[in-house]
Amino acid sequence: MKVKKAIIPAAGLGTRFLPQTKSIPKEMLPLVDKPAIQYIVEEGIRSSIENFIVISGRSKKSLEDHFDLAPELENILESKSKKDLTSSIEKIIEKTDFTYVRQKEPLGLGHAIWTARHAVGREHVAILLPDDIITGPVPAISQLIKIATQEKCNVVAVREVPIEDTKHYGVVAIKKQFSPNLFQVKNLVEKPEPNDAPSNLAIIGRYVLSPNIFDAIEETSSGHGGEIQLTDAISKLLSNGEKVFAYKVQGTRYDVGKPLGWLKANISLALKHPDYGEQMLKHLKELDRDILLMEGKAEILSKTSESMF
Ligand code: G1P
Repeated sequence: MKVKKAIIPAAGLGTRFLPQTKSIPKEMLPLVDKPAIQYIVEEGIRSSIENFIVISGRSKKSLEDHFDLAPELENILESKSKKDLTSSIEKIIEKTDFTYVRQKEPLGLGHAIWTARHAVGREHVAILLPDDIITGPVPAISQLIKIATQEKCNVVAVREVPIEDTKHYGVVAIKKQFSPNLFQVKNLVEKPEPNDAPSNLAIIGRYVLSPNIFDAIEETSSGHGGEIQLTDAISKLLSNGEKVFAYKVQGTRYDVGKPLGWLKANISLALKHPDYGEQMLKHLKELDRDILLMEGKAEILSKTSESMF
């Protein structure tokens, strides 16, 4: 079994990030020096994905333009010997196929995934939600692909969250634990209140699913928020006798679909960036000094100043 196709659902309206997202798709917001969706595509490419099926909607044309050649721009850059400014994106365009599918009505994540059924066909497929940026040495989706291939099963990425936060996520009920990070799933619930949550293991936006997910979505009626939920369709896969595993992926996850998560991701990524890391660290140390002064904690500064500055 090989996983070569990935669905990126990008039809959402970005309401958690208004007014910024009124005319600019949230997937195109910059994380340091490239749009959020480019991190998602790079994660897929590093995991041997060859074909991305982007679920798009109205006012998302800039996504298509970003992953397309721009001869005018390239000619100008070439004449100014600045070709390296776009080389990372050109490499992506060379290596990868993009298919764009429109979700005609906003009927939920499950419905968005279902619109990709013809493009995917009868193979296992990766799903990457572009709000969830996961950084770390091993791409998150490749961690799931490894398990799905070994165990011939469906896999969802999870992380532990405080129990009061379960209402923001799909949550898994555990049947069996195989190792500190790997679980067999008994059931899944979309956005349960803390009292109803079967665990504090929340789904973060990475999945590897069998092609039967498309029939399962068709059998799924609307659930939480009146929408067709992917989580409910995965429960259907379980009741149809398929195995679903949950894996605590290694890496740091940022929810860049809302301002605070986006700001945190920018700072963390800037710190790791070869061109900006050092300057960013210096800036944060200066801010830290200002905050300590503001809080009347100058004595801490006098103890640490020599080592810090
Ligand atoms: C979606 C899924 C949810 C998952 C979350 C991860 O919810 O429906 O199960 O936990 O993504 O980010 P959304 O955040 O789109 O409402």
